[in-house]
Amino acid sequence: MRFLIFSDIHGNIEALNALLRFAAKRKIDHYVFLGDLVGYGASPDETIQKVRALRPLSILRGNHDKAVSGQDSIETFNPIAASAINWTRAKIKRKNVEFLTSLRKGPLVVHDGFAVCHGAPFDEDYYIFGEFDAAEAFEYLSLPLCFFGHTHFPYVYTRRGHKVEGTLLEGEGNEVKLEKGATYLINPGSVGQPRDRNPKAALALYDDEARLVKFFRLEYDIEEARRKILAEKLPPALAERLTLGI
Ligand SMILES: [Fe+2]
Repeated sequence: MRFLIFSDIHGNIEALNALLRFAAKRKIDHYVFLGDLVGYGASPDETIQKVRALRPLSILRGNHDKAVSGQDSIETFNPIAASAINWTRAKIKRKNVEFLTSLRKGPLVVHDGFAVCHGAPFDEDYYIFGEFDAAEAFEYLSLPLCFFGHTHFPYVYTRRGHKVEGTLLEGEGNEVKLEKGATYLINPGSVGQPRDRNPKAALALYDDEARLVKFFRLEYDIEEARRKILAEKLPPALAERLTLGI
């Protein structure tokens, strides 16, 4: 089976459209989304509609999805993120709020071969930043592979025995061949708001028969995404960061 693994779209329909064009040219058996459909970007309704149309095998909730649907307060968010959440709450259609409310909390087992979570297996809102966090997260895994999101960095953590090694996937054409006996925590990066100084939309393809995870970066219409953010009077920093990939 070929799984398209994606995360953190954050209402950026231009970036999602690039992913859909990419997927249309490939054989994808299942879509697996790791959370944060909305927040930051100017197109929350369109984003939800298009992701639902893919009929993903699994859609997790992210912290922004929870905040927009009123399941979490905005107190833990910085002022710019909180401002975008308030804007999204005012803008989004009621049926889409209901959909966000219905999303499940990770970790979940998908297709009996791997697990998924938004932040970490022990806390959906926790950021796995570094090998120390990853070592803790591995303790909670019962399967040898878990995909996660939330940090917006494409990253692979590998545990062999008691040793944990983390690798930021820089540049293009990265792939990871899964070794038997090793355990993996893998982040595909963010579709709609990459933060690794590469502004291109990020995603991963997982082939469970080949035991291979391939990482991709896609050009998209950043100018249009920026224009909409500014036209909606969302914080201008949210437009700026898309260009910089931060
Ligand atoms: Fe996010």
